[in-house]
Amino acid sequence: MRIGIVGAGRIGGGIARQLAAAGHEVKLSFSRDAKKLEELARELGGSSGPPAEAVQFAEVIVFSVPWSELPNALEQAGSLAGKIVIDTTNQFGNPPLPPEGDTAAHFNAARMSGATYTKSFNTLTAGFQAQAAGREGERRVVQWLCGDDDSAKRLVSGLIEDAGFVAVDVGGTADCSVMEAPRRPGAVYGEEYRLADAQAVVAALDDGQPIPPTPRYEDGR
Ligand SMILES: NC(=O)c1ccc[n+]([C@@H]2O[C@H](COP(=O)([O-])OP(=O)(O)OC[C@H]3O[C@@H](n4cnc5c(N)ncnc54)[C@H](OP(=O)(O)O)[C@@H]3O)[C@@H](O)[C@H]2O)c1
Repeated sequence: MRIGIVGAGRIGGGIARQLAAAGHEVKLSFSRDAKKLEELARELGGSSGPPAEAVQFAEVIVFSVPWSELPNALEQAGSLAGKIVIDTTNQFGNPPLPPEGDTAAHFNAARMSGATYTKSFNTLTAGFQAQAAGREGERRVVQWLCGDDDSAKRLVSGLIEDAGFVAVDVGGTADCSVMEAPRRPGAVYGEEYRLADAQAVVAALDDGQPIPPTPRYEDGR
């Protein structure tokens, strides 16, 4: 697929690297240093350009910029109509911020009107994601996923798989606080999960029960 990356830093650059290695075409955008972006794009066998070009080029757009830069990135991206978005951002930064009781995903989906919004790749550090991508079998690491469109989530689940992880869907954007900061109580943010433990979290949520304690893996990092 054609993937546009808006913000090819630690997280966005890692996703670009993983998806390019899996055979996807990547176009990188939104940097204060066009030369650095060009070099990374060349290394990945992709291309670079302004955000609006990355959006026009791509079927799926990854937004991976600091929270405070998102308004600027969205303005430069232009219309997102008909595109699938993967938002990796967390709400650490300047206003506008989600109002009390709203999720960052729900808040950002409204800021990306016309796009089919999903959120993923936001709960684990960039270093850990880079190190853990591609693990096989029971050690494969979960990327949590939310969104309001099932077919977009199926497609993004495939990309998460291609990036070397396994996707676990926690539901719609309004109900995904479990995958958002802060760390505990009631959130998996910042924690490594594997499939069986992640499915237990989803089952607890479905039953209206507290999520199980943080899993510990002896054969992890
Ligand atoms: N780092 C993590 O461990 C982690 C984990 C999960 C989620 N996240 C979330 O993912 C998002 C991206 O985080 P990140 O750590 O990947 O950020 P990052 O490494 O700082 O990357 C940000 C990207 O935005 C670009 N950018 C363009 N204009 C910018 C400006 N004025 N100020 C700052 N950056 C600008 C940067 O390009 P240039 O530097 O080339 O200008 C860079 O490619 C954030 O919302 C963060 O909360 C981060």
